[in-house]
Amino acid sequence: MPDGINGANGHYGVLEPENVLDPKHFEGVRRRGASHHGLPLWTYTSKRFFDAEMENLIRPGWNLLEREELVPNPGDFHALTFMNVPLILARGTDRKVRVFANTCPHRGSLIATGKGNCKSFRCPYHSWVFSLEGKLLGAPAFDDANDKPLIDDSNRHEYSLFELPADVWGGFVFMKFRPSPGTLAEHLGALPERLGSHRIEDMVCARRKVYDMKANWKAFVENYSDALHIPNVHRDSLARWHGTRVEEGPAGEDVTATFIAHDEGSMLLLPFPGYDGFPAMDHVRDERKRGTYFVTVRPGMMMTLGNDGALVFNSEPVTPTTSRLTVSSLFPKATVARDDFRQVVENYYRRNEIVVGEDVEISQRQAAGLNSPYARMPRLCKGEVRLNDIHNWILDRVIGAPA
Ligand code: FES
Ligand SMILES: [Fe+2]
Repeated sequence: MPDGINGANGHYGVLEPENVLDPKHFEGVRRRGASHHGLPLWTYTSKRFFDAEMENLIRPGWNLLEREELVPNPGDFHALTFMNVPLILARGTDRKVRVFANTCPHRGSLIATGKGNCKSFRCPYHSWVFSLEGKLLGAPAFDDANDKPLIDDSNRHEYSLFELPADVWGGFVFMKFRPSPGTLAEHLGALPERLGSHRIEDMVCARRKVYDMKANWKAFVENYSDALHIPNVHRDSLARWHGTRVEEGPAGEDVTATFIAHDEGSMLLLPFPGYDGFPAMDHVRDERKRGTYFVTVRPGMMMTLGNDGALVFNSEPVTPTTSRLTVSSLFPKATVARDDFRQVVENYYRRNEIVVGEDVEISQRQAAGLNSPYARMPRLCKGEVRLNDIHNWILDRVIGAPA
């Protein structure tokens, strides 16, 4: 059996080594420069590596959850499942958006289902009642053997709904599964300022499409930052756009923003007849009026931001070999209010069916091929160098930064 290019351990393909977190497996990824390596292919299939990613990277990190417009008014709530965890998104009487674990502190029942507006949450099992801020308000007949209430003001705080750290930027709600150092503002670096004039907070989601991906969550994230695939996978679609990258300097440690200047129009469409779009937003700063931003917010958020709207991707880990990709089409409220919105927006959706469809298909095709004992250690060229950046960012969090 040839040792191949898999480095010292000689493992082939998705045969995972005994200690998946041993830095020696990642020497090729860490050796940046001329010969870039990608993460070993077993990191896309290994349950143990996936668990380490969840524990060290995903749960303590800022994750895109939803748009805050789902809960516009005090008392609005929306139950959802994110990364297999049932959650409640709710707006309190103080107008603050909160994210709660949707599991009753009594004996675990789901507290809310669906969406709606309420004054408080009542668990249907034994009628414990919680305020919109998560505080326990009542626990009927929850008494000890002497009929004395087991919960009073001295211990009531122990029975609150579990509130997850959450914050909002641009109308996006981000959350952590557990408290950890670092604010959302720190995570986003220069993005809020750089993209500020696009006023993403004034946009609304007009359509959302969810893909249940037969691929590890990293597959689509890498695809989005992979310049090499565009003339191949998008030969007759996105590749027909001609643009010039404008250097703006790094946006932060956890984010990237690449501005591609191009002629009139928007990369949210295709440069063909039949793809008429909405006018550019007046408020975009002049030097960014013509062109499109390609934005990543690690770990799983990506956004193509045109002068007319945004296409937002969220790659959500589900199992080592599956993920959920949510693709949301955002437009300014003023655009959605136009008489011709329903008609013109179809051009954007048709573009997405083609371009996103190509990326979804190729990401799953890659996943199907790498799940082989003969899959090789990936090597990366200039056009894929950003994948090596992503991989090092992941390793810094999953196994720790190199000494
Ligand atoms: S499980 Fe919710 S009140 Fe008992
Ligand atoms: Fe692509």
